[in-house]
Amino acid sequence: MTGSRKLYVKSFGCQMNVYDSQRMADTLAPEGYVETGSPEDADLIILNTCHIREKAAEKVYSELGRMRVLKEAGKAEGRDVRIAVAGCVAQAEGAEIVRRAPAVDLVVGSQNYHRLPELLARAARDGKAVDTEFPLDDKFDRLAAPSAAATRARGVAAFVTVQEGCDKFCTFCVVPYTRGAEISRPVTKIVDEVTRLVDAGVREVTLIGQNVNAYHGEGPDGRTWSLARLLERLAAAGIGRLRYTTSHPGDMGDDLIAAHRDLPALMPQLHLPIQSGSDRILAAMNRRHSRADYLALVERLFAARPDLALTSDFIVGFPGETEADFAATMSLVEEIGFSGAFSFKYSPRPGTPGAEMTDQIDEAVKSERLQRLQRAIDQSQADFNWRCVGRTVSVLFERLGRHSGQIVGRSPYLQPVQIEAPTSLIGEIAPVTITDVATNSLFGALTQQPVFAGSGA
Ligand code: SAH
Ligand code: SF4
Ligand code: F3S
Repeated sequence: MTGSRKLYVKSFGCQMNVYDSQRMADTLAPEGYVETGSPEDADLIILNTCHIREKAAEKVYSELGRMRVLKEAGKAEGRDVRIAVAGCVAQAEGAEIVRRAPAVDLVVGSQNYHRLPELLARAARDGKAVDTEFPLDDKFDRLAAPSAAATRARGVAAFVTVQEGCDKFCTFCVVPYTRGAEISRPVTKIVDEVTRLVDAGVREVTLIGQNVNAYHGEGPDGRTWSLARLLERLAAAGIGRLRYTTSHPGDMGDDLIAAHRDLPALMPQLHLPIQSGSDRILAAMNRRHSRADYLALVERLFAARPDLALTSDFIVGFPGETEADFAATMSLVEEIGFSGAFSFKYSPRPGTPGAEMTDQIDEAVKSERLQRLQRAIDQSQADFNWRCVGRTVSVLFERLGRHSGQIVGRSPYLQPVQIEAPTSLIGEIAPVTITDVATNSLFGALTQQPVFAGSGA
């Protein structure tokens, strides 16, 4: 390839898209594409999209409107700017995107990123290229690995996809349709990738998957390994901190619960979406567990790891949700004391069973319930943060703070922690005693105290 071209990738949605965006950039690097942070000077713009809620999907079209202007400006300067749409909207809508937004040159579904170089050539030749098939070859085998320099530039905490797709079919959710059936990557491939990251200076790895605890990959012994076994293997590979997300309550195996007790590198924080506190709604959502099941599971997790913090996801206004159902969600939030949670108004998605249900809830009711729930969650999070004051926790320092002399890291619970310390600590894990709390972060000071939560220092 001659000369370097500039690539701008924008990620929407979940962490899997963040990971995929990086791997797309890695795959295009040998083609001469260098990443840029500004779309204005890009030769190729990739929007890596999310289809989970209507708002997320519509955002793509407003973004495409802006990108079209850049494309026209490029043309006026004699530059040929190409626009690609990747991710879950690409997978769900395919060629429809080109019809609605003719400035788009290329549509590539979530399983076809390894074909990007070939698709770009096809778009250059034919004007457009659309590829949303679920291919037989495994994209993970064909996507290029990042250079050590690219890894370092991305920071000391990294994501690694270990599992993709979902077979659960919750009645509100598009993921089984946009990401396809569940697949797990083989253990050896993941160990190689994590080892490469560790060698490049990464200290924390979050294993990601739409249903990560359903992981069942082929082990080096030819047997099927669980997520717990994979975590144990990775802890032995010398990574300072491990996390995994997102988990389904139905897939929390005994060995995974035990891993929270036995693996010091596994951070005492777990994202465990429940969606609703009402059994009637959980059943209508096809979540396959009850409120009591969830509470019993939480009890076992706390028994294994007493300093564990839980976060969750909630949907309000699922079809048929009564005030009593919603009250059950509110009482669950009270009962568990989450360290944080995401909450959303139910958004009917085309092609999902929920969208066909007749008892849809009024938007105003959804908004009002969402407000009440978010107030309760904010309170629960603030309570958790205040309980951290006086505790000593391990912090992985990631970057410079806003004020000079400050650096910022993450606690085991993913809280941003600001301290006054030399920049040479960036990339290190050190014990910090928490002294104060602001809305979005904690403050503390380096200490010699033994670490109470989250070792790996
Ligand atoms: N695999 C994860 C969730 C992936 S989607 C799990 O099983 O928990 C992330 C979150 O988006 C979900 O937990 C849910 O709270 C929310 N979500 C998914 N579909 C939605 C919809 N149609 N409307 C509103 N929120 C939705
Ligand atoms: Fe969606 Fe349910 Fe699968 Fe999570 S488990 S990705 S919410 S279908
Ligand atoms: Fe969105 Fe697709 Fe992730 S729909 S949440 S980007 S799996």
